[in-house]
Amino acid sequence: MNGKFISIEGVEGAGKSTQLDFIQRYLMGQGIQLTVTREPGGTELGEQIRTLLLTPTTTGMAVNTELLLMFAARAEHVAQVINPALANGNWVLSDRFTDATFAYQGGGRGIDLQRINEIAAWTLNGLQPDLTLLFDLPVEVGQQRVLSRNQGVDRFEQEKIEFFERIRACYLDRAQQEPHRIKIIDASQSIADIEIQLTNILKPLL
Ligand code: TMP
Repeated sequence: MNGKFISIEGVEGAGKSTQLDFIQRYLMGQGIQLTVTREPGGTELGEQIRTLLLTPTTTGMAVNTELLLMFAARAEHVAQVINPALANGNWVLSDRFTDATFAYQGGGRGIDLQRINEIAAWTLNGLQPDLTLLFDLPVEVGQQRVLSRNQGVDRFEQEKIEFFERIRACYLDRAQQEPHRIKIIDASQSIADIEIQLTNILKPLL
């Protein structure tokens, strides 16, 4: 039997990394064989593409280049990591997947969502997560968290607040269109409350 595929999404500073650790511990505690991975990245080639996409010194990249690099990394990720793991009965937990492309390149950069749909259709062969956890919080709160990390910002994090407002709106729109797959987590709550929300969502999947 194929394993389940879970993705995690949200704007910058929504606390995905902290919650990814919790979800990983929770699922592994239930005896699930779990492959944890991320996008863009997850393979050797994909991580090289990630570097191209995220380094702030990459300037003036055309939006279509950005879109195609995201899908190039994803095609590799699906072929080398996600599909083999699922076929083996493993579960896959991915920090971002295709919803991020609709939100960032569609909502954020303004690429036609239908075009993204077409590229997704031929690169992914219908693959989509069984469950997507969308960590949602006001953009300003997320930005403050990013800045307080004091780590320097990547190419996306340099963008203006309006860019992230469009991304958040696009994510919420998708969640409204696909309520069975995309579950919104209120990421402004305490870590303990978020963990309760997550457990309630994950339990029925087991
Ligand atoms: P993250 O590791 O903080 O999630 O960084 C990945 C960045 O890449 C984040 O700013 C979102 C962006 N991204 C896209 O723009 N499109 C995509 O399809 C994916 C997977 C990520």
